[in-house]
Amino acid sequence: MEKLVIKGPTPLKGEVTISGAKNAAVAILPATLLIDGVCTIENLPNISDIKISCEILEQLGAKITWNNEHSITIDTTNITTTKAPLDLTSKFRASYYIIGAMLGRKGEIEVGMPGGCKLGARPIDQHIKGFEMLGATVNLEKGTIYAKAKKLKAAPIYMDIVSVGATINVMLASVLAKGTTTIDNAAKEPHIVDVANFLNTMGADIRGAGTDVIKINGVEKLNGGCTYSVVPDQIEAGTFMLAAVATRGDLTLKNCITKHLESITAKIVEVGGNVEDNGDSIRIWCNKRPNNANIKTLPYPGFPTDLQPQMGVVLALANGTSVINESIWESRFQYTEELNKMGAKITAQGKTAFFEGVKKLYGAPVYSSDLRAGAALVIAGTAAEGETEIYNLEHIDRGYENIEEKFRKIGAKIERVKE
Ligand code: UD1
Repeated sequence: MEKLVIKGPTPLKGEVTISGAKNAAVAILPATLLIDGVCTIENLPNISDIKISCEILEQLGAKITWNNEHSITIDTTNITTTKAPLDLTSKFRASYYIIGAMLGRKGEIEVGMPGGCKLGARPIDQHIKGFEMLGATVNLEKGTIYAKAKKLKAAPIYMDIVSVGATINVMLASVLAKGTTTIDNAAKEPHIVDVANFLNTMGADIRGAGTDVIKINGVEKLNGGCTYSVVPDQIEAGTFMLAAVATRGDLTLKNCITKHLESITAKIVEVGGNVEDNGDSIRIWCNKRPNNANIKTLPYPGFPTDLQPQMGVVLALANGTSVINESIWESRFQYTEELNKMGAKITAQGKTAFFEGVKKLYGAPVYSSDLRAGAALVIAGTAAEGETEIYNLEHIDRGYENIEEKFRKIGAKIERVKE
């Protein structure tokens, strides 16, 4: 078993280069199944979710060549099976994108129920509703999803709730469906725009991604033959921005799209931090105890739920009482118990948590319950006085590239230790 050992407190200072977006990359990789040919994808984050995605694609018949640790060339000319490997698909959430992509490519797929972070109930009813409206039948038996369609046909689809996964999945399924599909009440996250840009580069005709109405004009074939670079990771950037505030440091983030970070910069300014926006880089610094603030997580462009735990560390240390209202995932406050072991004063009740700010956190052994909770604990350990040990690193490794190396480069005293 591995653990991270952090000795704090350290104000983080220096430059961080932001990696490609996990949530875009885990959708772009299955999207290659729609291509009858070869394409190259660059700026892939070097994380375990990407390695598993590639293994799944290879088991379906794709040929992958690694050009370097961030770039692959993938040939999806011969997709040889419609059974996805159950052991791999159950390891992460985004494996559900295989359904939309394979319905489009082969009209059939058998795949295990997706795994991923345990953030509360994670239904996929909106995905299924979308596939059914495009003419597919979807059955769920003993944890396996069987989806089939003789021929997908475009349809108007209204999403009952704003869902990132359902928006992308239905977009994937409709790229090769005859006619024009509209997705109303679509999610607008940057990674949705990125998946649409990738597909359009390969020959699809998708309009309106990034707004709440997406129109997909079905095309006969995607030829590929192009190179695409994944968008910078909004959530990784936000994680380091909040780390700068929590540790009272000074960080410059390179390779980010600052437009995607506006809800975070607004909160950083509200708590008394400083922001210098240079378009494709951003500097964040804070030289005093943060002020209190209230947060409500919302779909993009609102404050992202995937930065709620990292913001929670800032508010745990703030001057005054703060309230976070989590409107997306019901079990996203598990990290607050771990922060309380470090001296925080947080009371979580259902979807609301009350943060009575403390002056200091103290090192303690803590457990990462999910990916973003793990990132929050790394920030807390860097801000805290004394030694913090973080366990359950597999969650962090799913979504953050070389987290300890990136933190070490900006001054953190952090080591990965095998027990
Ligand atoms: C994606 C992100 C995840 C992020 C979340 C919200 C990926 C791989 N994961 O997850 O990191 O926290 O967006 O920004 O991109 N819902 C339904 N029915 C459905 C689908 C969703 O009721 O069919 C509900 C969910 O329970 C949740 C809300 O809709 O309350 C939003 O979920 P969704 O946007 O679909 O999240 P994911 O795509 O799973």
